[in-house]
Amino acid sequence: MEDKAHPSPSLPLRQDQPIGAARLFLPPAIAYKEAHDSGAKRGPGHLIFALLRPDRFPSITPAPASGIRPESPDPMARPSSKAVAPKAKAMSKAKPAARAQTKAKAVAKPVYVLNGPNLNLLGQREPHIYGSTTLAAIEKQVVTRAKALGLAVICHQSNHEGELVDWIQEARTMGAGVVINAGAYSHTSIAIHDALATLDIPVVEVHISNVYKREAFRHHSTISPVATGVICGLGVIGYDLALEAIKSKL
Ligand code: DQA
Repeated sequence: MEDKAHPSPSLPLRQDQPIGAARLFLPPAIAYKEAHDSGAKRGPGHLIFALLRPDRFPSITPAPASGIRPESPDPMARPSSKAVAPKAKAMSKAKPAARAQTKAKAVAKPVYVLNGPNLNLLGQREPHIYGSTTLAAIEKQVVTRAKALGLAVICHQSNHEGELVDWIQEARTMGAGVVINAGAYSHTSIAIHDALATLDIPVVEVHISNVYKREAFRHHSTISPVATGVICGLGVIGYDLALEAIKSKL
């Protein structure tokens, strides 16, 4: 029986919340932390600090906000959850073999984009730290980026640790990768660490703010040791970068 609280990602999910235009908040300091593979599948890596220059990230320029909507609303789905699969390109013109390949791509597993506690308040919450972009706008931006990359995505937000664990467990069999901003749970949650440790798919930890410039309790992450890589301090564009990183690992 379908669990209404956790709809299957194979179902098209409803997007009925208002969605604004994507805007970027770029804190002055930027940290990009990536785990290197060296033998182990995942592990803590080195830190690369860099100044953000648009010419260095031409591929992450936000796409125009218009005309991007996940398809097929499902009245059973959570309001804050949405999924979108890339469209099969030129299906009608493709030769049978090419068509089969395109179809296989179009039904690929989604990347789970998970946001933790208080991130539902983005846009209102401490805008001097997190900027003015709402979570709905971020999710719209993520959907746009995913489509451009040929990825399917499913977006969830919860203030509850166990719910995040449930989605991570779901991604274990249903997902192609996980992008996770676990908010404050990043610094405290062994349960999320343990759930992520079970995954055999790429995991990118995202922080909008540069946690290393902030309070000491934000300098430790329980998640980083089980993430493929970490993006922090780049503002909301970090979610796009995370998708690109996942795409590169698939
Ligand atoms: C955050 C940083 C965390 O320290 C904080 O608890 C958050 C947001 C970020 O995106 O910068 O909720 O993960």
